[in-house]
Amino acid sequence: MQIIIADRSHSIYASTICDTIAQAAEVRGTGIAKRKPEYIITKMENGNAVIALDGRNFAGFCYIEAWGHGKYVANSGLIVHPDYRGQGLAKRIKKVVFEHSRWKFPDAKVFSITTGLAVMKLNSDLGYKPVTFSELTDDQTFWKGCQTCKNYDVLQRTNQSMCLCTGMLFDPAIQQDKKTKKKFDKNVWKRLKNINQVRLSKKEKKS
Ligand SMILES: CC(C)(COP(=O)(O)OP(=O)(O)OC[C@H]1O[C@@H](n2cnc3c(N)ncnc32)[C@H](O)[C@@H]1OP(=O)(O)O)[C@@H](O)C(=O)NCCC(=O)NCCS
Repeated sequence: MQIIIADRSHSIYASTICDTIAQAAEVRGTGIAKRKPEYIITKMENGNAVIALDGRNFAGFCYIEAWGHGKYVANSGLIVHPDYRGQGLAKRIKKVVFEHSRWKFPDAKVFSITTGLAVMKLNSDLGYKPVTFSELTDDQTFWKGCQTCKNYDVLQRTNQSMCLCTGMLFDPAIQQDKKTKKKFDKNVWKRLKNINQVRLSKKEKKS
């Protein structure tokens, strides 16, 4: 199995990808922001998509979208072909697309809106936290993508403040804070350990 950053040569898979996404949404009976093959092809051409191939067979896909002038990034359209599900492929694709997004947009907040438990699990593993929609991008082009979802009326009724999807967010600033705190904690721990060792050796000398 190959999981790679897609390019123009993968445009032959665009229709299959769109059909697989639409069929999966129908089976789940959930809403979905529909995408056209041309949109998927543009993602591939711009190096903003990840594709999984088993030889020449399409196995999985996910793409990157940037919103709010690159302040926010979403990893959208995750799909694994039914023949390849339950083998950890979505996990591998999400990891590649997440790392690629972080490399391309290091300061962007990465977010996701989903009704899927699998996606919630995968997002949590990558450090996303559940948030209200107010924490997500206010870029109206993103929310317009929801117009093709069958639950769009809910989003409209709530003035875009909530819907059936759960919002999840990875904030690089918070992650950086945690890292610094961890480093700090480690240093404090080291110093305490040293102090204790000195105390202990003094005690031993006395006795
Ligand atoms: C959802 C989907 C991408 C999962 O792909 P997959 O390759 O089978 O997933 P993985 O094997 O990598 O599993 C990842 C995790 O999700 C869990 N999971 C997978 N399918 C699940 C399901 N239907 N319900 C609940 N959890 C699920 C797995 O147990 C695993 O969790 P773990 O790490 O705690 O063991 C795939 O079923 C799919 O394409 N579905 C249709 C499209 C879809 O729902 N996309 C998401 C749009 S929001």
